[in-house]
Amino acid sequence: AQTEKDLLYKIHEVANTYFQEILWDDQEGRSIGLAYFKERELKDDIIRKFQLGYSPEKKNAFTAYALEKGYTKEILEKSGLSIFPENTPAGVDRFRERVIFPIHSFSGRVLGFGARILKNNVKTAKYLNSPETEIYHKSNVLYGLNQSKQAISRKNGCLLVEGYMDVISLHMSGIENVVASSGTSLTTEQIKLIKRLTENVTILFDGDNAGIKASFRSIDMLLTEGMNIRVLLFPDGDDPDSFARKHPQEYVEKYIENEAMDFIDFKAEILLRDVGNDPIKKAEAIRDIVKSVSFVQNALKREVYLKEVSNKFGLSEQSLFNELDVQKQITQ
Ligand code: CTP
Ligand code: MN
Ligand code: MN
Ligand code: MN
Ligand code: MN
Repeated sequence: AQTEKDLLYKIHEVANTYFQEILWDDQEGRSIGLAYFKERELKDDIIRKFQLGYSPEKKNAFTAYALEKGYTKEILEKSGLSIFPENTPAGVDRFRERVIFPIHSFSGRVLGFGARILKNNVKTAKYLNSPETEIYHKSNVLYGLNQSKQAISRKNGCLLVEGYMDVISLHMSGIENVVASSGTSLTTEQIKLIKRLTENVTILFDGDNAGIKASFRSIDMLLTEGMNIRVLLFPDGDDPDSFARKHPQEYVEKYIENEAMDFIDFKAEILLRDVGNDPIKKAEAIRDIVKSVSFVQNALKREVYLKEVSNKFGLSEQSLFNELDVQKQITQ
């Protein structure tokens, strides 16, 4: 028998095909959606590879299509793709007049969608995503993992970016070992997905405040799961997408290779930016770094990192070990 979950997978498959057909074959889809991706310099083959689509302006375009195909209002509502307000029996599409990014499971099933408005404006959220459903649990999914898993294994390393377009642009540049956290900090479940393939993660977040905050939280999560981390922030104003489109593949690869830092150097650089010679602020920065070290599960690695902090700041290892003990009690 078909379970509700089966139906949810199916309706997502149907929607995924529909949004792509609109993008490629429909007048509105081509002139608005496809034109948008072309403006962002995406090539046809990469648009196909990521199964990008377009949702029309019409209020219930997809809903009407799916009802016609025999899907019930109930399943449409549960999928998050439609809503049925009391005075609108024809239903309303969740995604309208947006370009569509399907979100796949590790094994390639469509679980949900991200959808971007065409012109940035302050009133509308730039991205609208599927809600939590019976098949889509945001915190268990990494965007791009399905398309990137082989390259992650082959290179024994995973690049972690913030956004949909970052993943796609890097792929277009030939850098295919990349997943996106979709703008939030990582969860344990997401890290475990990466860990099936590699223990080496390079964080490539935007250089803005949101990116720095997310990278700090992600560092502690990754260390807790025993991952090896390097971190690189792009120059303010750039993200991996804009950077990858400005420079050739080899340059981007070298840049990541040369500029990515270990988490201690990275945190030190950020935290000491505005400290000057203030000893109290400097001590706070060092405590913050030691706190991250306290998340390292392996005792030997922990000691190596602490030695690095000791050398870097000219502090005795003993006082750092004492601080580490304090922090470990706090964080455990
Ligand atoms: N995001 C989201 N909802 C928003 C803003 C962001 O879900 N309102 C998620 C998206 O997954 C987005 C990621 O956070 O890709 C990173 O956000 P941001 O850097 O602001 O967007 P970009 O990916 O750079 O978007 P674009 O290049 O299309 O402008
Ligand atoms: Mn579930
Ligand atoms: Mn950003
Ligand atoms: Mn960005
Ligand atoms: Mn961007």
